Amino acid sequence: MNDNLHQLRCFGCGDRIAGRDARPDFRCAQCGDLFEVEYAGWNLRQGTNRPNPGALKWLWRERRCSSETLDQSGVWRFRELLPILDSYGNAITLLEGNTPLYPLARSARRLGIDQLLAKHQGMNPTGSFKDTGMTTALSVAKERGFEWVACASTGNTSAAMAAYAARAGLRSLVLIPEGKIAWGKLSQAMDYGAVTCQLKTDFDGCVRVLAEVVQHEPIYLLNSVNPYRLEGQKTPAFEIAEDLEWNVPDHLIVPGGNLANSSALGKGFRELRELGLVARMPRISVIQAEGANPLVRSFAASHGKELEPVEAHTRATAIRIGNPASWRKAVRVIQDSDGWCLDVTEAEIAIAKAELGAEGLGCEPASAVTLAGLKKLRGDGKVGSGETVVLVLTGHTLKDADYTIDFHRGTLLREEEIAGHNAEIDALRRNAFVVEANPAAVVAAMKGQ
Ligand code: F0G
Repeated sequence: MNDNLHQLRCFGCGDRIAGRDARPDFRCAQCGDLFEVEYAGWNLRQGTNRPNPGALKWLWRERRCSSETLDQSGVWRFRELLPILDSYGNAITLLEGNTPLYPLARSARRLGIDQLLAKHQGMNPTGSFKDTGMTTALSVAKERGFEWVACASTGNTSAAMAAYAARAGLRSLVLIPEGKIAWGKLSQAMDYGAVTCQLKTDFDGCVRVLAEVVQHEPIYLLNSVNPYRLEGQKTPAFEIAEDLEWNVPDHLIVPGGNLANSSALGKGFRELRELGLVARMPRISVIQAEGANPLVRSFAASHGKELEPVEAHTRATAIRIGNPASWRKAVRVIQDSDGWCLDVTEAEIAIAKAELGAEGLGCEPASAVTLAGLKKLRGDGKVGSGETVVLVLTGHTLKDADYTIDFHRGTLLREEEIAGHNAEIDALRRNAFVVEANPAAVVAAMKGQ
């Protein structure tokens, strides 16, 4: 047995309940808002429930040399900060986390920033950041005796859920919007044995249907309304701080879709500060695609007090979300950390993705909004040259190979979207040639470049 210390606290009305008392849709019975996992006493300056910072830093680093399975997970390595299971023996892991923090030297030079880094969450076992949250939430499902788990998804959550469910021996149900997710992600759900339903609606419609299904069937919901997902997704904040010798970056830039990831990373940094492991929070900014920007609109219209859902359109299908579940949590993170929320165009996303690719760090389009957003922030003077900036790259480039190929073939963007970006795009495009099978033709193609 572990010290299972957690309770759930409603983000809206502050009501506290035991973890096992959550409703199937993870909404508060009093006010309908979402819950957050809370650990009693952590926000106090002293007390018996408060871990010792120096000892933790030592222990977490030691575990990197351990051969124990849980120690090799970049999520469970930090298990003192996620005491959510009755027994760690119930943890289902694919050795997620421990992802690289890469310097982006060329982009840094172009932008005139001293230190620009990319935390590449696409290097997780199923190719996205979702694995870090799936290992925690699916372990809870297993511990609580569920046989079925389910999610609505733009693709990555379903890929991660299906893989972890397969490892745990659970059945999984996936609802995805028909024709609106990348094939790589759909193929993963099939490969890992999920029951995959393509619904004739968008992501927000899939969420609505699933919320009803879980009311009537004994299925454990693994969308990010499930607060245990965010517990795993906060751990990259610990890794970033550890990699920077327990200094936090000045600025963290995160893509925004359903807005759980920005919320989770904010929670991670907030807990590190509350526990005395770091001195301050980074500024956390959230970037959305222009056609799927309900949070940007919310800040413009009501300073983040109200959110009007939108019908979402973007080729960055992972963040094609018009009614984000965790928007209130994300507003708090942005406001508490003095961050910004802005949107970027389809052309800006495609260019940023190609620039990251040209530095040897492919990513999926939704991840590239971070670099596109940084360019805007730097242009507006909101990021200083002496700052350390970390971009969170959320998904692997092979998740959506069609997008990349279409960009380089010149078939991705429409004329009016390209306007004003022609030179940049021409400089980045690297189409594949069809060449006669002889050395002279190959050398001519090479020199023609
Ligand atoms: N980047 C990628 C690659 C994603 O898959 C997602 C979300 C996000 C960014 C946005 O993160 O929703 O926490 O703000 N994908 C979800 C899914 C919704 O179903 O895979 P968020």
